[in-house]
Amino acid sequence: MVDTHLNQNSVQDVLDYDRQKELKAFDDTKAGVKGLIDSGIVKIPPIFVIPTDELSCEKSYSGSTHLQVPVIDLKDIREGGVQRKQVVEEIQHASETWGLFQIVNHGISEEVLDDMIKGTRRFHEQPTEVKREYYSRDVPKNVNFLSNYHLYKAKFANWRDTLSFSMAPVAPSPEEYPAVCRDIVISYSQQVKRLGLTLLELLSEGLGLRSNHLAEMECAAGHSLVCHYYPACPEPNRTMGTSEHTDPDFFTILLQDQIGGLQALYQNQWVDIPPVTGALVVNLGDLFQLISNDKFISATHRVLANQVGPRISVACLFSNPMQKQMQPVNRLYGPIKELLSDDNPPLYRETSAKEYAFCYGSKGLSNSALDNFRL
Ligand code: OGA
Ligand code: NI
Repeated sequence: MVDTHLNQNSVQDVLDYDRQKELKAFDDTKAGVKGLIDSGIVKIPPIFVIPTDELSCEKSYSGSTHLQVPVIDLKDIREGGVQRKQVVEEIQHASETWGLFQIVNHGISEEVLDDMIKGTRRFHEQPTEVKREYYSRDVPKNVNFLSNYHLYKAKFANWRDTLSFSMAPVAPSPEEYPAVCRDIVISYSQQVKRLGLTLLELLSEGLGLRSNHLAEMECAAGHSLVCHYYPACPEPNRTMGTSEHTDPDFFTILLQDQIGGLQALYQNQWVDIPPVTGALVVNLGDLFQLISNDKFISATHRVLANQVGPRISVACLFSNPMQKQMQPVNRLYGPIKELLSDDNPPLYRETSAKEYAFCYGSKGLSNSALDNFRL
């Protein structure tokens, strides 16, 4: 008698084994997705293909123009000014409904934004031998080049390579930066940090707290820059640039170029976040949702793969520092006491940014780790 159950298992085992082998072979090239394109492939390798069971839970695409991610003008937000009150209200509303908005007149010049995109491109378009030096998966480095953080855990690999910098509280030493983007990374990092602190004040006020409340909680005491390169994809409908996810931080400031493909989930529909010249995208992360006790939400977002490219983006993730040398004791975060009442009891238990990141990382990209902390 043939044991079909056993047979099925072993077929699956073989498939899984081949997949693991292919993932490892891809990882070992240390050349990323750009390396595949440079080698002249015209079909995407199986490790990148979205499995059919994933496609079946696909949410609808709005494709319509009536849903628009809020664009907020930060032009005149002097403390005590009339404009500030208005802006705080807009941020509060966007944070309650989308968890995401675009900002203009934020104080970082178009020239700096452009240089940051160009610097990212210069890094990724260097010869593989040069980039390989920075490639590392298991040992986190201050400057790290990698294709797919969740390569081995995710259901399929994403069409994207990433260079990241751990910038604060301790920045890399000058010789750790790739020479092709050192100056702009240092300068952009300083400017985006300043903007992050301004946003934190506006977000504090949006929650009805003193403007320095969130900064004093050290929600932006650490930040990293994550510089993505999405090569043109020969079969964009069969894979993703970045799978659906929320960010594990307090908030993220995202710079994207003019290619497009970024989408946010709003009322269970995917809505395009169109590139706006000079604008930056701000999205709240899981830790913000946790400390605000679900008043503000963590935005679910993704990036489609595209026939044209490369698409370049730079995300600045703000969180409590996780660098060991700086943080012998990890600060704990729970719902902010001032926001709680008999009618609004805490929905989450306390956690540290580090514990949260660990839980998030162990789940692969698409599952919400936040539920693990819900009371
Ligand atoms: C991220 C992210 C979007 C993009 O880095 O978390 O969502 O446009 N990036 O690259
Ligand atoms: Ni993200």
